[in-house]
Amino acid sequence: MVLFLVGFMGSGKSSVGRRLAAALGYNFVDTDRAIEEDTGVTVSEIFAYEGEAGFRQRERELLRLLPSEGDVVVATGGGMPCYADNLALMRERGRVIYFKLSPDRLLARLGRGRARRPKIAGMNDEELLEYITTTLPAREAWYSQADMVIDCNGATDDYIIYHVKNFLNC
Ligand code: S3P
Repeated sequence: MVLFLVGFMGSGKSSVGRRLAAALGYNFVDTDRAIEEDTGVTVSEIFAYEGEAGFRQRERELLRLLPSEGDVVVATGGGMPCYADNLALMRERGRVIYFKLSPDRLLARLGRGRARRPKIAGMNDEELLEYITTTLPAREAWYSQADMVIDCNGATDDYIIYHVKNFLNC
């Protein structure tokens, strides 16, 4: 079973995803890190030299190369399901799980880690909250098509893992 974790930057796809994979005995892939390993440069460098379009192309190619068999948790980049036919492909190949968080919680969680995210690098709290509140509604149109939506507001990692396991009946 392939589990695709989707959600906004800072929603815990990578951190909870890694723990979820360990709890289920699944492999773990983080799409941003996989692109960085493949190219030998950072996501920020790809944005700088190839633009966002170049990065989206790389994301799309990576998704197509991921194995569709075997047990794996895939933590996707926050924009991945919102471009091209990526979401349809994820739904075809596995189960899609949305980690849903309010703008305030996302802001708090993105306290650190802004620098390595080119879309929000250098923003102060006010600018970031504005960015989240204006971007999230459009992205939710994609995220909410997930097979499972987990309200992660105030949830511990263990609670989220418990819910995914329930969803999978294991
Ligand atoms: C992006 C999210 C990032 C990364 C890139 C663009 C986005 O992934 O793919 O910086 O457009 O939301 P995370 O959601 O893992 O931060």
